[in-house]
Amino acid sequence: MMIYPFISAEEAAEFIKNDFRIGIGGFSSVGTPKAVTKAIAAKAVAEHAKGNEFQISLITGGSTGDQVDGELSRAKAMKFRAGFQSNKDLRTAINNGEVQYSDMHLSHVAQDVRYGFMGHVDVAIIEAADITPEGELVLTTSVGVSPTFAAVADKIIIELNAHHPAFIKGMHDIYEPINPPYRREIPIYKPNDRIGSATLKVDPKKVLGVVCTDMPDSIAAFTKPDPVTTKIGENVANFLIDELRKGRIPKEFLPLQSGVGNIANAVLGGLGSCPDIPAFTMFTEVIQNSVIGLMKEGRITFASGSSLTLSDDVLQDIYANYDFFRDKLMLRPQEISNHPEVCRRLGVIAINTALEADIFGNVNSTNVCGSKMMNGIGGSADFSRNAYLSIFTCPSVAKGGVISAIVPMASHIDSSENSVKIIATEQGVADLRGKSPLQKAQTIIENCVHPDYKEMLWDYLKMTAGHAHTPMSLRNALAMHLAFEETGDMRNTVWK
Ligand code: COA
Repeated sequence: MMIYPFISAEEAAEFIKNDFRIGIGGFSSVGTPKAVTKAIAAKAVAEHAKGNEFQISLITGGSTGDQVDGELSRAKAMKFRAGFQSNKDLRTAINNGEVQYSDMHLSHVAQDVRYGFMGHVDVAIIEAADITPEGELVLTTSVGVSPTFAAVADKIIIELNAHHPAFIKGMHDIYEPINPPYRREIPIYKPNDRIGSATLKVDPKKVLGVVCTDMPDSIAAFTKPDPVTTKIGENVANFLIDELRKGRIPKEFLPLQSGVGNIANAVLGGLGSCPDIPAFTMFTEVIQNSVIGLMKEGRITFASGSSLTLSDDVLQDIYANYDFFRDKLMLRPQEISNHPEVCRRLGVIAINTALEADIFGNVNSTNVCGSKMMNGIGGSADFSRNAYLSIFTCPSVAKGGVISAIVPMASHIDSSENSVKIIATEQGVADLRGKSPLQKAQTIIENCVHPDYKEMLWDYLKMTAGHAHTPMSLRNALAMHLAFEETGDMRNTVWK
């Protein structure tokens, strides 16, 4: 017996007024609402045609599918966006200045909303796989910030998506910390510790209605591992095996966190298939395709995250074999999956992807040439700052070699040299632990830089070493970026 009224997506969109701030559930392109956001985009187009203003501000847990960020940005229905994003059209709108984007550590989003830092939330839109007779929600493929949005928003719209079976009840662990000064420790001592409830309790008085859908998540297909990403994976695996042998990683191994994107997916696949690394658990943000394959092979025994960011065939495989996966997967609010306290306590080994790194180990994960937003910082720095061991990986060059991923000074910094312990490219691994800036620069240039750029960076270091604690030429620090912008190729850099 359903305790809420059924409404259409268009009726739901009618509740949304110009200038509303909306919080949506979902994370990393999955578990987000799909029909209502599309109807809001259509409403925006209709209102604009009438000459009326209609734009919303949108806060999400993480990236969304095209049904949210794509539809809303193409309809020019969004003026502000916070949380991770990875949609091509939204990225263009952000870089054109059409959408103001606030990039945030993903572990901060829920608490910033609760503290009132993000403003009043008018409506929460949350996708559910099932609604219990008491009106509680069984979420779908992610948790994200749903518990907080449901708690703080004036009104709630639910999308009940028949694409996900009700038997996944129990996969989620819903827990919200109390605000300071009453906050207590988060009692997770092992990746599979359950601390909250299986369902999301919502105030029935706030629910505007339930929109029925039957729609898969839309995630971009992963590219297959190539020789470069495979080599990066091998380099990271060999490094970790060596650490195990040296006793710097306990013989039981430690939970892994692995970042988003093609490279992270390939690196994890490479690590998992390495027989010298014991079967391991994951305490991570995003559970990508490679995790599920490794689980079936017995290489990963348990994964805790905030989303199942899987292609639909892999997701359907989980649903078809749910008895096998039932005790191996847990989805948590991103505030918990990425929590610094838990990450530090569990001793997570964090592996994230850099767009570029500088010779001192500062990492840029977000802004191309310091200004053009790619996706966002995501949870990378939640983990890199608090991990047992923080590793960043990237191919040594981008765009066919015209960009070196290792530069004298990162054009934007997301994870600073104080957090970054290891950098790995297909060329090799630089261990930055216990090193000065000069020593870090020597290690990175020697081990990680592509041969096309090695001499150039050695020349830069020769020119600057000995001047001060961190060898740096203010005149030349961004000269490689400038050469790229002016000539289309960093190899044309001339030191001045
Ligand atoms: N300068 C300019 N462009 C660069 C670049 C650089 N230094 N390095 C990479 N790129 C481009 C690539 O060419 C590619 O462009 P394309 O889409 O036009 O082909 C794009 O960036 C993505 O690179 P790709 O090699 O496909 O890597 P990816 O899919 O693994 O993504 C990041 C890499 C860094 C963009 C992605 O990991 C990310 O958004 N990270 C930040 C958030 C994060 O780490 N979250 C995890 C926390 S749990």
